[in-house]
Amino acid sequence: MTVNKLPALLDKMWADYIHINPLAKKIHDLLIKEGETIQNDHIALRTFRHPRVGIDVLARPFLEAGYVYKSDYQFPEKKLYAKHYEPSDRSLPKIFISELKLEEMSSSLRATVSSLIDQMPAGLEQRFDFSSIGRPWSVSTSTYQELHQESDYAAWVAAFGYQPNHFTVFINRLKKFSDIHGLNDFLKSQGFKLNASGGEVKGSKDVHLEQSSTLANNIEVPFTDGRLTIPACYYEFAKRYPLPSGDLYEGFVAASADKIFESTTRGQ
Ligand code: NI
Repeated sequence: MTVNKLPALLDKMWADYIHINPLAKKIHDLLIKEGETIQNDHIALRTFRHPRVGIDVLARPFLEAGYVYKSDYQFPEKKLYAKHYEPSDRSLPKIFISELKLEEMSSSLRATVSSLIDQMPAGLEQRFDFSSIGRPWSVSTSTYQELHQESDYAAWVAAFGYQPNHFTVFINRLKKFSDIHGLNDFLKSQGFKLNASGGEVKGSKDVHLEQSSTLANNIEVPFTDGRLTIPACYYEFAKRYPLPSGDLYEGFVAASADKIFESTTRGQ
């Protein structure tokens, strides 16, 4: 478990991500064509609060590779909790991991999620590349629908498992599109749909972070008894502002992330 395994894992995570979110690759390539250099601000992972797959389990490989824990966040309404981790090398993405607090969910949801996790072979979660193994369980369309009724987030994790939920363009590194409003207008003019929940731009200079995101694209996902077309991943954009100390704010803003989570909500 050395630092040099990390670049390959990050590359694999990007490949997994653009495989199910071709729109992100389109935007990425479009910005490069416009002469921009893309740096990832952060990668977001989703999971369940459970001893085998909780945040601390997903974070382990990143900690082994030199990341450090920085801060945590509460999302009471969505029953989510999250932590973010920072690399020593500032050109690498931060890692943001959220988990659904199962103890606050219905007993039927808890039982369903436990039965999914119980399908995982012993020790699978110890793998360095666990955050990139995809869906490690079988799940039916009816289980997906049932989870979806209680939690959009639970249904997403059940359907996609362990792969990035989103990557994030670090706007500060862009030249032509260093203003988030200008970037949003450009993306809309190119036909991309943005998440409008809570306004297109979440946050502000006052909280040292502005964020926007595309709406998740729908893809066809195989289940044990058929296929469903469901929201997959989205692409996020983040602009950071300096703190009074002069250092760039590297954290997250719970009120903004709360709305960003809705980028995978069906029917928006
Ligand atoms: Ni994010």
